[in-house]
Amino acid sequence: MYHLECIECHRKYSETEVIYTCTCGGLLDVVYDYSDIQITKKDLKGSLSVWKYRALLPVSRKPISLKEGGTPLYPVERLAKDIDMKEVYVKHEGMNPTGSFKDRGMTVGVTKALELNMKTVACASTGNTSASLAVYGARAGVPAVVLLPSGKVALGKLAQALMHGAKVLSIRGNFDDALKLVRALCDREGFYLLNSVNPYRLEGQKTIAFEIADQLGWQAPDRLILPVGNAGNISAIYKGFRELKDLGFINNVPKMTGIQAEGACPVVAAIKNNESMITPEARPETVATAIRIGNPVNAAKALAAIRESGGTAETVSDDEIIRAQHELASLEGIGVEPASASSIAGLRKLVDLGIIDTDEKVVCVTTGHLLKDSEHVLNVCPKPIEIDATIEAVRKAVFYRLKAEGI
Ligand code: F0G
Repeated sequence: MYHLECIECHRKYSETEVIYTCTCGGLLDVVYDYSDIQITKKDLKGSLSVWKYRALLPVSRKPISLKEGGTPLYPVERLAKDIDMKEVYVKHEGMNPTGSFKDRGMTVGVTKALELNMKTVACASTGNTSASLAVYGARAGVPAVVLLPSGKVALGKLAQALMHGAKVLSIRGNFDDALKLVRALCDREGFYLLNSVNPYRLEGQKTIAFEIADQLGWQAPDRLILPVGNAGNISAIYKGFRELKDLGFINNVPKMTGIQAEGACPVVAAIKNNESMITPEARPETVATAIRIGNPVNAAKALAAIRESGGTAETVSDDEIIRAQHELASLEGIGVEPASASSIAGLRKLVDLGIIDTDEKVVCVTTGHLLKDSEHVLNVCPKPIEIDATIEAVRKAVFYRLKAEGI
């Protein structure tokens, strides 16, 4: 019903092989035989979840699941008005079990690990992948090893990896160094690699596209905006929309629009300079630690997704990211981590530049929850006001505060 296929040389591999990239070095895709898949919109009634779309997922055993997916698609009218847009939605992936979209990939990836009889799972991570792998490893009863860039992982994510029992290694280096190491470790030790270079993980993440179309009444938006780090998610979501179009469920694939931080933007540079490959950045830096990545492993897929869909890529500054995070939180009540806010910052910038039309129906994906990075919140928000425990002190502080804010 499906096989793995190299996106460069089209060499095929059986689904029983443990393989992450082609012998030619190209990335692999999971390719389905649609003549074997009998599915109609009627078969997709019922509540949203990753496993609702099981007919389009490459596993046969009982899933290792914590009820991932089914995340809200919020209309954000106040924010849209502020940006001068008519119809904007936020797909809040921070509402997944571990607080990020990674759970969609891990429920499928860890289930696949069991199907392939793997005994240990491993990843490198800027934080969220490690949290999710620790949780799904625990759920599956399989040991997890995670390699993190030392000092650059938000506390909430580190706490999850530690509490759920992963072996946590803090690497003196950045994410790109950690990914190189974990790939070598997996090859040597036979651990199952669950970074997004693993095509099965991306199959779980493509359900973001399925859910958005489902939530919009089997329609695709005109444009999808999301943060880009290792460039797996943009590739996965594009694949999801393309599959829906091939199945005749939707008429158009949205313009895939990737946002990177100014200090870590190899994909944006390749798009802007019309290059066929990215030039890695040796020293990526941004407040959005989740996307602090200089050599995205899925760049080839992401460049194709952006170009084939007629999308674009743009950078945002750390200040723009922090402003967007505040806006989303205070105008709409949606709390996201800095990397996720880059999709909102990117929307504003691209509207200002006249690249996004104000009539477009846009979905911004917010990839991780605010609570993942509470240390950052304390750095960018006013401190709590400490006062005596008396009503006078409370009133004085409240009214002083309201007056100061002009209310
Ligand atoms: N947003 C958040 C919150 C993330 O954690 C990541 C990636 C991205 C966006 C970018 O997604 O890599 O598919 O382009 N985090 C990875 C990790 C790298 O290790 O948690 P991508």
